[in-house]
Amino acid sequence: MTEEPILRQEIEALKRRKDAVILAHNYQVEEVQLAADFLGDSLELSRRAASLHQGVIVFAGVKFMAETAKILSPDKKVLLPRLDAGCPMADMITVDDLRGLKARHPEAAVVTYVNSSVEIKAESDVCCTSANAAQVVRAVPATEIIFIPDRNLGSYVQRLVPEKKLHLFEGYCYVHDRIKREEIETARARHPQAKVIVHPEVRPEVIDLADEVLSTSGMLRYAQGSSAREFIVATEHGLLQRMMRENPGKAFIPAGAAKVCSNMKRTSLLDVRDSLRDDKYVIQIDPAVAARAGRALREMLRYG
Ligand code: 13P
Ligand code: SF4
Repeated sequence: MTEEPILRQEIEALKRRKDAVILAHNYQVEEVQLAADFLGDSLELSRRAASLHQGVIVFAGVKFMAETAKILSPDKKVLLPRLDAGCPMADMITVDDLRGLKARHPEAAVVTYVNSSVEIKAESDVCCTSANAAQVVRAVPATEIIFIPDRNLGSYVQRLVPEKKLHLFEGYCYVHDRIKREEIETARARHPQAKVIVHPEVRPEVIDLADEVLSTSGMLRYAQGSSAREFIVATEHGLLQRMMRENPGKAFIPAGAAKVCSNMKRTSLLDVRDSLRDDKYVIQIDPAVAARAGRALREMLRYG
């Protein structure tokens, strides 16, 4: 097994030789977070992918994120180190499901969470992330919205934008949907001074207990700027590791046992090295589908 410092050196040399950059999501394992040039939430990484000058992007995250980077940066080579790093929520909705929703609600605009396939994005009016979902729904020129695939994010957005009617789909994230109200209550009983910060993919009864509902990087910024010393954090464990590392004077308490997205954890530092060294796995998208999905993604970047 190659040691971490040696792998890091190899990665740095390969990056220079290949004119490559590493983008990583906040849920990646710590060794990958530390090797990243940019670490962030889905929105930050999409924006970054659209504005890079390097020719190669290694995307340490899950497949829909690497696909988004490829669509927004079509001239670059985008590499996903593990082909088996998917997002189960993105796979919950099919194009037929979406066409059925459109047939039932012909007046509605389609707002699609980026945690979705390129084929679904191609059939959508605009995409959104956890950081801008309410902003996008408000800005879309329609009063009826088909919001897919996450029912929890959709019902949270419905609370924030009551003037519009959202039609939801029964998709969910298995990591966030599992977080229980009781886990927050128990943590709060032990840490009564703590702020409760949650990701909008959690269930409505967990949202009810939150002081703040934010994207992953939104949670990080909130904790950095807050005068509070303790935070109960309801999201995937990779973000808590980043929060602890970057805020040594503050305490970050998981809601119950640590919540782990096995897909996000598939990518190791060795996979990143192999990806750079062997050019794997190259993201390829049918150009006609990419063009349609790109419209929905660029529309999102225009709105928020
Ligand atoms: P963020 O965009 O908030 O980082 O969330 C991505 C994700 O997959 C949450 O489960
Ligand atoms: Fe998908 Fe949930 Fe994992 Fe995010 S945490 S990548 S939504 S399964």
